[in-house]
Amino acid sequence: MFYPTLPSLIFCATFTTVLGQQQPTATVIPKSCFNSQADFNASFNDLYPWGTDHNGAARMNASYISVSDQTLTLTAQRVSGQAPAHSGGQTIDIDYLSGTVSAKQNFSVTAGGGYDFIGDFQAPVATGTWPAFWLTGVDSWPPEIDLAEWKGSGNISFNTFNTSSQVAALNIDYADPGSFHTIKGEVRDENGEDVSIKFYLDGSLVTTQYGKSFVGQPMYLWKDLLARLVQPQVSRPMYLMSKANTTYSVRNLEVLSYNP
Ligand SMILES: *[C@@H]1O[C@H](CO)[C@@H](O)[C@H](O)[C@H]1NC(C)=O
Ligand SMILES: *[C@@H]1O[C@H](CO)[C@@H](O)[C@H](O)[C@H]1NC(C)=O
Ligand SMILES: *[C@@H]1O[C@H](CO)[C@@H](O)[C@H](O)[C@H]1NC(C)=O
Ligand SMILES: *[C@@H]1O[C@H](CO)[C@@H](O)[C@H](O)[C@H]1NC(C)=O
Ligand SMILES: *[C@@H]1O[C@H](CO)[C@@H](O)[C@H](O)[C@H]1NC(C)=O
Ligand SMILES: *[C@@H]1O[C@H](CO)[C@@H](O)[C@H](O)[C@H]1NC(C)=O
Repeated sequence: MFYPTLPSLIFCATFTTVLGQQQPTATVIPKSCFNSQADFNASFNDLYPWGTDHNGAARMNASYISVSDQTLTLTAQRVSGQAPAHSGGQTIDIDYLSGTVSAKQNFSVTAGGGYDFIGDFQAPVATGTWPAFWLTGVDSWPPEIDLAEWKGSGNISFNTFNTSSQVAALNIDYADPGSFHTIKGEVRDENGEDVSIKFYLDGSLVTTQYGKSFVGQPMYLWKDLLARLVQPQVSRPMYLMSKANTTYSVRNLEVLSYNP
């Protein structure tokens, strides 16, 4: 039998702490999810569960979703002649067709658990575009966690909504939008009721936010390329999105569960 000397014990203790970092309990969405259309179909649905329209000036259409070269690409195209959408009592003109996909799985942080959401994103930041990678409540709103959102300002945003007015929102500079950037959101049970979210950009921790009573609440995962919300009081020429197609691409997407 081997009896470790004191220095070995200290070494072992340190080593165990490193190894003692929480390990995932399951891979919910594997990195291979964009390897083929069949891999995509195993983890994702086209469009929103309720259909093609949400709160932007784009209508979602499966023809604007493509999976090739281990990359998911959503395209937005300027169109005319679409019937308007109706959302929150507003009538919204539809000027674009675009793509959105949602994970088949719901995500519910259980006591002592959580998830990592990881991927490489090439997101447009031009005025009028609104790509996002976000979680929203299945049974209610909030919860909402914007793991990353690009609101057409040139910046990237990280947000968590406790209510419509109690929002942690961080906008920071977003250099080199033409390249892929790695986004990681570590969502964890904080105290049996609230969740913490650590937002990483290209491997660096940007901010930590907290979601009130998000534990146990199922959430959908979306990736979408919307044209920006058109408020009725704002004149349309504010939104001078390019007539050329705009694309939003994602690769190496992976979701790991830490739920016990
Ligand atoms: C993927 O699902 C779509 C329907 O959403 C279907 O049309 C297509 O045939 C499926 N492809 C594969 C390879 O499973
Ligand atoms: C998607 O667009 C194509 C061609 O633009 C159209 O034929 C089809 O009906 C659209 N699908 C939906 C769900 O709107
Ligand atoms: C824009 O995207 C749509 C949908 O993918 C495609 O049908 C169309 O050919 C594209 N237009 C250009 C100019 O690339
Ligand atoms: C997601 O949650 C909704 C509402 O609770 C439920 O109808 C649906 O079956 C759930 N889907 C999965 C895959 O668990
Ligand atoms: C973009 O982020 C910078 C901080 O990095 C901030 O000063 C600026 O106000 C932000 N702009 C917008 C439009 O959010
Ligand atoms: C949201 O609620 C959590 C938990 O109570 C709290 O820590 C956090 O500060 C709240 N966020 C905001 C923006 O007030």
